Amino acid sequence: MSSNHSNESSTILIDGKSVPFTKGQTILDAALASDMYIPHLCFNPKFKPHGSCRVCLVNVNGHASCACTTPASPNAKVESDTTELNHDRRVLVQMLFTEGNHFCPSCEKSGDCSLQTTAYELGMVSPHFSPNFPIREVDASHPEMLIDHNRCIFCSLCVRASREIDCKDIFGLSERGAKTKLTVNSPTGRLGDTDFSSNDFAANICPVGAIIHKGVGFANPIGQRIHDLSTHQIQALDGEDA
Ligand code: FES
Repeated sequence: MSSNHSNESSTILIDGKSVPFTKGQTILDAALASDMYIPHLCFNPKFKPHGSCRVCLVNVNGHASCACTTPASPNAKVESDTTELNHDRRVLVQMLFTEGNHFCPSCEKSGDCSLQTTAYELGMVSPHFSPNFPIREVDASHPEMLIDHNRCIFCSLCVRASREIDCKDIFGLSERGAKTKLTVNSPTGRLGDTDFSSNDFAANICPVGAIIHKGVGFANPIGQRIHDLSTHQIQALDGEDA
């Protein structure tokens, strides 16, 4: 970092706006700290970025990069809210919808789900691709918690939370690509055969409806949920996915 440019060394240009950053921050960190929304799914500020969902894709000086893993650097010119990038993000989200089994109207996480709200924000009006309808199980073996594998998007937040914060290492991801699977580290592979607790950090971090608490599904009524009350503004899209 050049000492000759000390005034420029702490800002980055995102969609034409000068955004301050501190050493060690990524583009996504800097954007979020300035209340600028860059769509993202597998990022959570508590953990080192994973860079797997690719929904935070931006152009940095003309090169495609993940905003969550790319360090902010002085004078970098970042494009995020463009028709092309939002189109690409929308395709990624559509693929997530069709690779799993996501039925928002009947899901108790509706309104509190990052996948659903990102789809809305990206102007997704249909899954576009043919659904895979994979056969996935529901693990209801734990007295307080339930895993619905149909809704998992493999963001690995539960894996990281259990390992790094709860120090239990209850979850893992196995296989790759379309065969990726959330696994439970117990002799039976069942959640009920672990020491998982509803108070664990990992029990409260799932951004979708894959790891949920039993018995509280609709305690917070629809219309008063996290994403019912807040939206992010991104460039209007053309609805080409219909
Ligand atoms: Fe950056 Fe998922 S949020 S890759």
